[in-house]
Amino acid sequence: MINLRKTKSLSRIVREWDSIAAIRDEQVRTGKDHSANFVLAPAILNTLPRVRSLVDIGCGTGWLTRRAAQYAEVIVGIDPSHESICIGKINNKDERIRYIPEAVETFSKKSKKFDLAISNMAASSSPELQSFISASRKILKRNALFIFTIPHPCFWPLYWGYASDPRFNYQKSFAVEGDFKIQSENSNMMTTHFHHPLDQYLSTLLASSFHIEEVTELTGRGFRLPRFILIKARAV
Ligand SMILES: C[S@@+](CC[C@H](N)C(=O)[O-])C[C@H]1O[C@@H](n2cnc3c(N)ncnc32)[C@H](O)[C@@H]1O
Repeated sequence: MINLRKTKSLSRIVREWDSIAAIRDEQVRTGKDHSANFVLAPAILNTLPRVRSLVDIGCGTGWLTRRAAQYAEVIVGIDPSHESICIGKINNKDERIRYIPEAVETFSKKSKKFDLAISNMAASSSPELQSFISASRKILKRNALFIFTIPHPCFWPLYWGYASDPRFNYQKSFAVEGDFKIQSENSNMMTTHFHHPLDQYLSTLLASSFHIEEVTELTGRGFRLPRFILIKARAV
């Protein structure tokens, strides 16, 4: 069951990710989550340069943070879901990784700056796209890369089945509530993602002092159309 809302607060979003954190950890660790393991992770990891410091924004349970750790000396994973961070500290432990239970907006007030940021499917989970992107820019050094994925705004509504909802309007932003699903498993745990038209992602990046270097459409298993987008933006 899908429900479209105008907005939803970060605290409510965080509660949802807290509740599903253990399930998500198991889905990725056992390989059940095909898209995470075999589409999104390789798309991000294959483009990473070697750097001194890397931050994973909206790291969830840290499975990708740990895989990305080989590319940097100092690695930080941030996520406002305390439950996800607790799991990360146990299951994706690495002496060079620090996990911090904070939203990027809060973390950006500390004036710590990184050489590279990655973020998997988190920009679309944040209630405020503008503040998520501008806080992400604040924690990057000039010339640093921000490599992140989002659900493909044109085709995700078809994949999730809300494209035909009479309240859906591609040009507008919506909070989309629905039971979390991966290709091989449906859950009865509700999560929320935010739909934004593609031009909103791109114009928000440009307005936040990012230069867009690459936009790649990613296809997954069992859906003919592109399901995700990878964006590579440089802090200017
Ligand atoms: C779809 S999950 C992805 C988690 C992880 N990147 C992964 O690949 O498993 C989205 C994550 O974004 C986090 N998130 C939402 N708003 C955020 C914000 N403003 N700053 C940082 N993380 C945020 C949520 O808590 C959630 O863990």
